[in-house]
Amino acid sequence: MRVGVLTGGGDCPGLNAVIRAIVRRGVKEFGYEFIGFRDGWRGPLEGDTVPLDVQAVRGILPLGGTILGSSRTNPLADAAASGGRPGITRIKDNLDSLGVDALIAIGGEDTLGVATRLHEAGVKMVGVPKTIDNDLGGTDYTFGFDTAVNIAMEAIDRLHTTAESHHRALIVEVMGRHVGWIALHAGMAGGANVILIPEKRFDIEKVCAYVEHRFQTRYAPIVVVAEGALPADESTSFESQELDAFGHVRLRGAGQMLADEIEKRTGKEARCTVLGHIQRGGTPTAFDRVLATRFGLQAIGAVHDGAFGVMVALQRTEIVRVPLAEATRELKVVPPDRYDEAEVLFG
Ligand code: F6P
Repeated sequence: MRVGVLTGGGDCPGLNAVIRAIVRRGVKEFGYEFIGFRDGWRGPLEGDTVPLDVQAVRGILPLGGTILGSSRTNPLADAAASGGRPGITRIKDNLDSLGVDALIAIGGEDTLGVATRLHEAGVKMVGVPKTIDNDLGGTDYTFGFDTAVNIAMEAIDRLHTTAESHHRALIVEVMGRHVGWIALHAGMAGGANVILIPEKRFDIEKVCAYVEHRFQTRYAPIVVVAEGALPADESTSFESQELDAFGHVRLRGAGQMLADEIEKRTGKEARCTVLGHIQRGGTPTAFDRVLATRFGLQAIGAVHDGAFGVMVALQRTEIVRVPLAEATRELKVVPPDRYDEAEVLFG
């Protein structure tokens, strides 16, 4: 059996741990051969491969990023750019000519959306969920999330001391285009003054009241805002018109816009720190290494069992198999009661 592996979409700490577990178990227990595809769906689209054996995965467990590279190439939108041949057909032809029997795609909603289409087109697919945003359905957690939260929490801890020294409001913008899981967890763990998430439009007056209250009690406020958070007043738009290959709007600085607004309304100095890709870089936490390794072991187990069209998922403490389509059916958003719970500590 020859198995292809690819990593697609935004990179995420733990990807290499998954790849290592797939290859180590696949070679040792099942005697499989592997072939790595470079840069997400671009690899199978263009037949761009890299050797993937036990030697290639040695020492990569703690390594951030992905040894296979990643991209946001969308084969479903690629027909015109590639001379009219649909991306799915090109991928199927390339898999056939490379003798690939099954394909494991490690990715988020976009990558797994393409995997679902390929499965429907007859490719033997297994998916592994990945995103620091933790917004995929069907799984309680994705690896990378815990690392991102810890990075953001450490940043908030550091910002507290400098905010206090200068009596400033510090706004921390964290990732989270559609959901506020990172903001909620990092904000709670770091003792944020206010947490703003995409799931709930915020009232700028209320945010300023929290900020002012924090100054009155002689503490400096830290406001944690997810990049996709939006004000209730729809005339203040934080979105641009630019789209990426999967049609996502490019966001433009919720944190800075919030800082400007807070400074204008409260008269207090407000500065913004955008954590950006720092949250996706570097070594994974122990939690993420274990989760990623378990996902990898079970993904190749699914291939061995002939269980295709599934994604491995964490439910409670078990790794289970769910239909690929379930991962992308709907985003896992922060439920209102989780936000209300955190809100008690605002101000
Ligand atoms: O999907 C994960 C994520 O981190 C989002 O929260 C963020 O909007 C996006 O990736 C940004 O990724 P990139 O800058 O690589 O396009």
